[in-house]
Amino acid sequence: MEAKFITLEGIEGSGKTSSIKSITDLLDSKRITYVVTREPGGSSIGRELRSILLDPKTEISSEVELLLMLADRKDHVEKVILPNLETGNWVISDRFMDSSIAYQGGGRELDKKMIDSFSKNLNLPNPDLTLLFDVPVEISLSRVKARGELDRFEQEKLDFHNRIREAYLGLAEQNVNRIQIIDSSQQIELMLKSVEQIIETLINGL
Ligand code: TYD
Repeated sequence: MEAKFITLEGIEGSGKTSSIKSITDLLDSKRITYVVTREPGGSSIGRELRSILLDPKTEISSEVELLLMLADRKDHVEKVILPNLETGNWVISDRFMDSSIAYQGGGRELDKKMIDSFSKNLNLPNPDLTLLFDVPVEISLSRVKARGELDRFEQEKLDFHNRIREAYLGLAEQNVNRIQIIDSSQQIELMLKSVEQIIETLINGL
Protein backbone atom coordinates (compact mmCIF):
# COMPACT_ATOMS: atom_id res chain seq x y z
CA MET A 1 0.00 0.00 0.00
CA GLU A 2 1.42 3.35 -1.01
CA ALA A 3 1.92 5.75 1.92
CA LYS A 4 -0.28 8.84 1.84
CA PHE A 5 0.60 12.45 2.54
CA ILE A 6 -2.22 14.27 4.37
CA THR A 7 -2.14 17.94 5.32
CA LEU A 8 -4.36 19.90 7.72
CA GLU A 9 -5.06 23.55 7.04
CA GLY A 10 -7.14 26.39 8.42
CA ILE A 11 -7.08 29.68 10.28
CA GLU A 12 -6.03 29.92 13.92
CA GLY A 13 -8.34 28.04 16.30
CA SER A 14 -10.06 26.16 13.47
CA GLY A 15 -9.82 22.80 15.24
CA LYS A 16 -7.30 21.13 12.96
CA THR A 17 -4.97 20.13 15.79
CA SER A 18 -7.88 18.56 17.75
CA SER A 19 -8.67 16.29 14.82
CA ILE A 20 -5.22 14.68 14.70
CA LYS A 21 -6.12 12.10 17.36
CA SER A 22 -9.19 10.96 15.40
CA ILE A 23 -7.02 10.45 12.35
CA THR A 24 -4.27 8.56 14.18
CA ASP A 25 -6.79 6.36 16.07
CA LEU A 26 -8.25 5.35 12.74
CA LEU A 27 -4.83 4.63 11.22
CA ASP A 28 -3.87 2.61 14.33
CA SER A 29 -7.05 0.53 14.01
CA LYS A 30 -6.07 -0.32 10.42
CA ARG A 31 -2.44 -0.98 11.42
CA ILE A 32 -1.21 1.79 9.15
CA THR A 33 2.10 3.30 10.27
CA TYR A 34 2.46 7.08 10.23
CA VAL A 35 4.24 10.15 11.56
CA VAL A 36 2.54 13.32 12.76
CA THR A 37 4.44 16.49 12.06
CA ARG A 38 3.89 20.22 11.61
CA GLU A 39 5.01 23.45 9.99
CA PRO A 40 6.78 25.56 10.87
CA GLY A 41 8.97 23.43 13.11
CA GLY A 42 8.88 19.87 11.75
CA SER A 43 12.70 19.52 11.56
CA SER A 44 15.40 20.58 14.01
CA ILE A 45 16.36 23.68 11.99
CA GLY A 46 12.64 24.28 11.56
CA ARG A 47 12.13 24.39 15.32
CA GLU A 48 14.57 27.29 15.53
CA LEU A 49 12.84 29.04 12.62
CA ARG A 50 9.48 28.47 14.32
CA SER A 51 10.52 30.27 17.48
CA ILE A 52 11.71 33.26 15.40
CA LEU A 53 8.54 33.26 13.26
CA LEU A 54 6.06 33.08 16.14
CA ASP A 55 7.84 35.48 18.51
CA PRO A 56 5.85 38.76 18.69
CA LYS A 57 9.19 40.60 19.14
CA THR A 58 10.47 39.48 15.71
CA GLU A 59 10.50 42.31 13.17
CA ILE A 60 10.78 41.05 9.59
CA SER A 61 9.24 42.00 6.25
CA SER A 62 6.53 39.81 4.71
CA GLU A 63 9.05 38.63 2.09
CA VAL A 64 11.51 37.47 4.76
CA GLU A 65 8.64 35.77 6.59
CA LEU A 66 7.78 33.88 3.38
CA LEU A 67 11.41 32.85 2.79
CA LEU A 68 11.77 31.53 6.35
CA MET A 69 8.53 29.53 5.96
CA LEU A 70 9.87 28.09 2.68
CA ALA A 71 13.26 27.28 4.25
CA ASP A 72 11.44 25.49 7.05
CA ARG A 73 9.34 23.59 4.50
CA LYS A 74 12.19 22.48 2.27
CA ASP A 75 14.15 21.15 5.26
CA HIS A 76 10.99 19.45 6.57
CA VAL A 77 10.39 17.80 3.18
CA GLU A 78 14.00 16.60 2.91
CA LYS A 79 14.43 15.37 6.50
CA VAL A 80 10.96 14.17 7.53
CA ILE A 81 8.29 14.03 4.82
CA LEU A 82 10.06 12.26 1.95
CA PRO A 83 12.09 9.79 4.06
CA ASN A 84 8.89 8.67 5.82
CA LEU A 85 6.81 8.36 2.66
CA GLU A 86 9.64 6.38 1.05
CA THR A 87 9.71 3.88 3.92
CA GLY A 88 5.93 3.44 3.76
CA ASN A 89 4.83 5.63 6.67
CA TRP A 90 1.89 7.94 6.10
CA VAL A 91 2.66 11.57 6.89
CA ILE A 92 0.11 13.80 8.64
CA SER A 93 1.31 17.40 8.58
CA ASP A 94 -0.35 20.18 10.57
CA ARG A 95 0.04 22.85 7.83
CA PHE A 96 1.99 22.75 4.52
CA MET A 97 2.24 24.83 1.32
CA ASP A 98 -1.39 26.07 1.38
CA SER A 99 -0.53 27.93 4.61
CA SER A 100 2.02 30.07 2.75
CA ILE A 101 -0.48 30.89 0.01
CA ALA A 102 -3.20 31.72 2.55
CA TYR A 103 -1.08 33.55 5.17
CA GLN A 104 1.68 35.22 3.14
CA GLY A 105 -0.40 35.54 -0.05
CA GLY A 106 -3.83 36.27 1.47
CA GLY A 107 -2.95 37.64 4.90
CA ARG A 108 0.22 39.58 4.04
CA GLU A 109 -0.95 40.28 0.47
CA LEU A 110 2.24 39.08 -1.25
CA ASP A 111 1.93 38.18 -4.93
CA LYS A 112 0.43 34.68 -5.10
CA LYS A 113 2.15 34.04 -8.47
CA MET A 114 5.54 34.64 -6.83
CA ILE A 115 4.65 32.19 -4.06
CA ASP A 116 3.46 29.62 -6.62
CA SER A 117 6.66 29.93 -8.59
CA PHE A 118 8.80 29.40 -5.44
CA SER A 119 6.71 26.39 -4.64
CA LYS A 120 7.17 24.89 -8.14
CA ASN A 121 10.90 25.55 -8.15
CA LEU A 122 11.38 23.95 -4.75
CA ASN A 123 9.93 20.73 -6.14
CA LEU A 124 7.68 20.03 -3.16
CA PRO A 125 5.52 16.91 -2.96
CA ASN A 126 1.77 17.32 -3.49
CA PRO A 127 -0.44 16.20 -0.63
CA ASP A 128 -2.80 13.31 -1.49
CA LEU A 129 -5.46 14.89 0.69
CA THR A 130 -5.85 18.23 2.45
CA LEU A 131 -8.46 18.82 5.14
CA LEU A 132 -9.40 22.49 5.32
CA PHE A 133 -10.98 23.37 8.67
CA ASP A 134 -13.24 26.30 7.98
CA VAL A 135 -14.84 28.51 10.60
CA PRO A 136 -15.85 32.19 10.77
CA VAL A 137 -12.97 34.32 12.04
CA GLU A 138 -14.95 35.71 14.98
CA ILE A 139 -15.46 32.19 16.38
CA SER A 140 -11.88 31.08 15.78
CA LEU A 141 -10.32 34.15 17.38
CA SER A 142 -12.46 33.85 20.48
CA ARG A 143 -11.18 30.24 20.84
CA VAL A 144 -7.58 31.41 20.38
CA LYS A 145 -7.93 34.19 22.96
CA ALA A 146 -9.31 31.70 25.48
CA ARG A 147 -6.11 29.62 25.06
CA GLY A 148 -3.87 32.35 26.50
CA GLU A 149 -0.90 34.30 25.13
CA LEU A 150 -1.09 35.26 21.47
CA ASP A 151 1.76 34.63 18.99
CA ARG A 152 2.89 37.00 16.23
CA PHE A 153 0.18 35.82 13.80
CA GLU A 154 -2.61 35.54 16.35
CA GLN A 155 -2.03 39.18 17.35
CA GLU A 156 -2.96 40.37 13.84
CA LYS A 157 -6.25 42.19 13.16
CA LEU A 158 -9.56 40.68 12.05
CA ASP A 159 -9.00 41.73 8.41
CA PHE A 160 -5.77 39.76 8.22
CA HIS A 161 -7.54 36.59 9.38
CA ASN A 162 -10.51 37.19 7.07
CA ARG A 163 -8.16 37.48 4.08
CA ILE A 164 -6.55 34.17 5.08
CA ARG A 165 -9.92 32.45 5.32
CA GLU A 166 -10.92 33.77 1.88
CA ALA A 167 -7.61 32.65 0.36
CA TYR A 168 -8.13 29.15 1.77
CA LEU A 169 -11.66 28.97 0.35
CA GLY A 170 -10.27 30.09 -3.02
CA LEU A 171 -7.65 27.33 -2.88
CA ALA A 172 -10.40 24.80 -2.11
CA GLU A 173 -12.30 25.93 -5.22
CA GLN A 174 -9.20 25.52 -7.37
CA ASN A 175 -8.27 22.10 -5.95
CA VAL A 176 -11.56 20.26 -5.57
CA ASN A 177 -9.93 16.86 -5.94
CA ARG A 178 -7.40 17.43 -3.18
CA ILE A 179 -8.97 19.79 -0.64
CA GLN A 180 -11.98 18.75 1.46
CA ILE A 181 -13.65 21.42 3.58
CA ILE A 182 -14.60 20.53 7.16
CA ASP A 183 -17.17 22.78 8.83
CA SER A 184 -15.50 23.63 12.15
CA SER A 185 -18.34 25.74 13.43
CA GLN A 186 -20.39 22.59 14.07
CA GLN A 187 -20.20 20.56 17.30
CA ILE A 188 -16.78 18.98 17.77
CA GLU A 189 -18.19 15.40 17.71
CA LEU A 190 -19.80 16.03 14.33
CA MET A 191 -16.65 17.66 13.02
CA LEU A 192 -14.53 14.68 14.08
CA LYS A 193 -17.07 12.31 12.49
CA SER A 194 -16.68 14.06 9.14
CA VAL A 195 -12.89 13.86 9.43
CA GLU A 196 -13.11 10.12 10.12
CA GLN A 197 -15.43 9.55 7.16
CA ILE A 198 -13.03 11.26 4.77
CA ILE A 199 -10.03 9.29 6.04
CA GLU A 200 -12.01 6.02 5.87
CA THR A 201 -12.90 6.77 2.26
CA LEU A 202 -9.23 7.40 1.48
CA ILE A 203 -8.20 4.10 3.12
CA ASN A 204 -11.03 2.13 1.47
CA GLY A 205 -10.03 3.45 -1.93
CA LEU A 206 -6.55 1.93 -1.67
P1 TYD B 1 0.84 27.35 15.10
O1 TYD B 1 0.92 27.63 16.55
O2 TYD B 1 1.28 26.03 14.60
O3 TYD B 1 -0.59 27.72 14.62
P2 TYD B 1 -1.84 26.83 14.67
O4 TYD B 1 -1.89 26.23 16.05
O5 TYD B 1 -2.96 27.78 14.39
O6 TYD B 1 -1.61 25.84 13.58
O7 TYD B 1 1.65 28.52 14.38
C1 TYD B 1 1.95 28.51 13.10
C2 TYD B 1 1.69 29.86 12.57
O8 TYD B 1 2.46 30.07 11.40
C3 TYD B 1 0.23 30.05 12.19
O9 TYD B 1 -0.20 31.31 12.63
C4 TYD B 1 0.27 30.07 10.67
C5 TYD B 1 1.66 30.54 10.34
N1 TYD B 1 2.17 30.04 9.06
C6 TYD B 1 2.33 30.92 7.99
O10 TYD B 1 2.05 32.12 8.14
N2 TYD B 1 2.82 30.46 6.81
C7 TYD B 1 3.16 29.16 6.63
O11 TYD B 1 3.61 28.78 5.51
C8 TYD B 1 3.00 28.26 7.73
C9 TYD B 1 3.38 26.82 7.58
C10 TYD B 1 2.50 28.74 8.93
